[in-house]
Amino acid sequence: MIKKKGHLIRIDTANTTLVIRADTAEYLYYGRKISSAGDFSVCEGASPRRLLSRPQRADYGEPNLILCNADGGFTYDFTFSRARIAAEKNEIPGLPSSYGEGKTLELKYVDLPTKVCLYIYYTVYDDSDAIAVSSKIVNGSKKEIRLRRLMSLQMDLPGTDYKIVTFEGSWARERRKTVRELESGVFSTDSKRGMSSHQSNPFVMAENERGVYAFNLVYSGNHKEIFECDRPGGKTRFLTGINDYMFDWALAPSEEFCAPEAVMCFAPDEDSLSARMHAFVSEHIVRGKWKKRERPVLFNNWEGTYFDFNEEKILSIAAAAKRAGAELFVLDDGWFGRRDSDTCSLGDWYDNVEKTGGGLKNLADKIRAMGLSFGIWVEPEMISEDSDLYRSHPNFAMKIPGRTPERMRHQLMLNMADERVQNYVVRTISDVIARSGAEYVKWDFNRSMTDCYGKGIAPGEYFHRYMLGYYRVVSRIVKKFPFVLFEGCAGGGGRLDLGNLCYFPQYWTSDDTDARERVSIQEGTSYGYPQTVMGAHVSACPNHQTGNTNPLSARFNVACGGVLGYELDPTKLSESELSEISGQIAFYKEYRKVLQFGDQYRLYGKNVVGFITVSKDKSTAVAVVNLMERRPCDPVPTVRFKGLNPSAAYEVSACGKTQVAGGDLLMYGDIPLEGLADSKVADANSGCIMSRMYIIKKVKNG
Ligand code: GLA
Repeated sequence: MIKKKGHLIRIDTANTTLVIRADTAEYLYYGRKISSAGDFSVCEGASPRRLLSRPQRADYGEPNLILCNADGGFTYDFTFSRARIAAEKNEIPGLPSSYGEGKTLELKYVDLPTKVCLYIYYTVYDDSDAIAVSSKIVNGSKKEIRLRRLMSLQMDLPGTDYKIVTFEGSWARERRKTVRELESGVFSTDSKRGMSSHQSNPFVMAENERGVYAFNLVYSGNHKEIFECDRPGGKTRFLTGINDYMFDWALAPSEEFCAPEAVMCFAPDEDSLSARMHAFVSEHIVRGKWKKRERPVLFNNWEGTYFDFNEEKILSIAAAAKRAGAELFVLDDGWFGRRDSDTCSLGDWYDNVEKTGGGLKNLADKIRAMGLSFGIWVEPEMISEDSDLYRSHPNFAMKIPGRTPERMRHQLMLNMADERVQNYVVRTISDVIARSGAEYVKWDFNRSMTDCYGKGIAPGEYFHRYMLGYYRVVSRIVKKFPFVLFEGCAGGGGRLDLGNLCYFPQYWTSDDTDARERVSIQEGTSYGYPQTVMGAHVSACPNHQTGNTNPLSARFNVACGGVLGYELDPTKLSESELSEISGQIAFYKEYRKVLQFGDQYRLYGKNVVGFITVSKDKSTAVAVVNLMERRPCDPVPTVRFKGLNPSAAYEVSACGKTQVAGGDLLMYGDIPLEGLADSKVADANSGCIMSRMYIIKKVKNG
């Protein structure tokens, strides 16, 4: 709800309130919902909490905007022009953004000497505590202006006593929760890789005793989050947006530049913050036919075969997958061109007839005849130098004429900023989907950007023009195939961000499939993203990334924290393993609605990490608790469940034992994980986790 009274604008969500003073571009309050009426003047007089900065005007903090203005200087004086409340969400041309029923506040400021305009938008949805914010510059002057930075959101947070929480990592170690005390000066986290990156996700939090402020960006390219701690000024400036690294954008008279949408949210604690972000992503970011539809249990052949397969091998895997109860078979890398290794053929999206036994359609039809859906892997933004595409169109590759380009995984990237390249990708990838009849597509992206160059494209505009080209391509393809389930992937979870989730309802969380590693990767991811978007696979042991061996049951338990799949060669498994997998899939299907669309909470105890996923009506829950390490004479580990109805009674089953207890006791008591550390597998291998699953069912209403 947005209400305007003079210059004061009050934005209320179900649980938070933001009060903006439009004429001075400040806000007076953001936090827990204020239910009382009043004019908020009691909040005035504190050090200004600006929504936009004023460089060269005694505001020496990090600016939201760096503009080489039409009069030749870096100065601007944005004067308030108008505040408008619109019934619909503002479109952000060329960029993905949130959607849904809600209201948008538009604030307009004008730099009177030059007529350059700055717009800031705040969108609130009726059912969401997250607020979407974006900014736009319009060059109303008669001269070219140059943007060196336009952040999507500026928020001067009150106080300086924050813990900054970021989600950092690398390939196969994505989104580890990292906590820092905020120190005087500037702390920033960013990506310069042309992708949101494995290294630093755009989702960040600032926490103190008042609660948790969280921010994210609906963008998949270079981003930057800045916290500037101003101790004497008693405030912490926060900025998020496109990274200004190598950014320099020319705006001719009357042209505009739109920054991607940012999202902000406040909650009293981490659990409620995650719940609010999950609800926002599920309802206002993820879209299309698969938004609320239960996701199929898939078998993917990548870790089972890598590039070494033929039709017979694939059909034998698919047949075993079907017998185990899988619903979708995904043919991963290696089916096209001469792709027997990662050194060639990217860009040649025609069938390797030999490996597919006569072509994709033939193979896909045989798999469908078994009663499975068919899925296919593609990596549309890439090109191998050893490919027909490169031989015929070397200028499609992103590289600087006369320089040897940097290769990663032996491959180059396509210059997606070029419209001809965009059309090529749309045509060839659409053809792959159409001719195979694929019901699922895994869209991969296996390297970071280097050698950014496109003929006729200003170097300072390249990174963002690539992203605009990428979004144009992906949106065209997704629109053409509305029934296809798209899963994003970037060497695992290197581009798991809100921009991509606008097109892909799910994302491959990490190439690391070891259950031990997955516990922390999925835990970190869960702070800002719901389990519905996290692809989670059971793979073979010893694990291919770490060498650890975990029991099949532990691998399954951990994968139940996301969208379940298997990524192994089932023909190499024993009868008893296969029958265990059949049991797992049958169980998953029975509880799939809860597991995929219930409310998920993180669980912690001493040395214990896990999750509980609770149905919306709080009648059913599945909890998984993992003991990460066993030490002699440690006390029996314990856990407290979350999200249950405190006054209802529940039947709790684990390890063949069923007990009845009240929801309050299950949440506020310490439930012992008796016998977990005595597991025999723990003796055999120190790298393994000890995992237990609980099924919790309501037996009496509160
Ligand atoms: C990436 C993906 C993997 C697999 C390979 C294929 O690494 O993350 O899941 O698809 O590419 O080359």
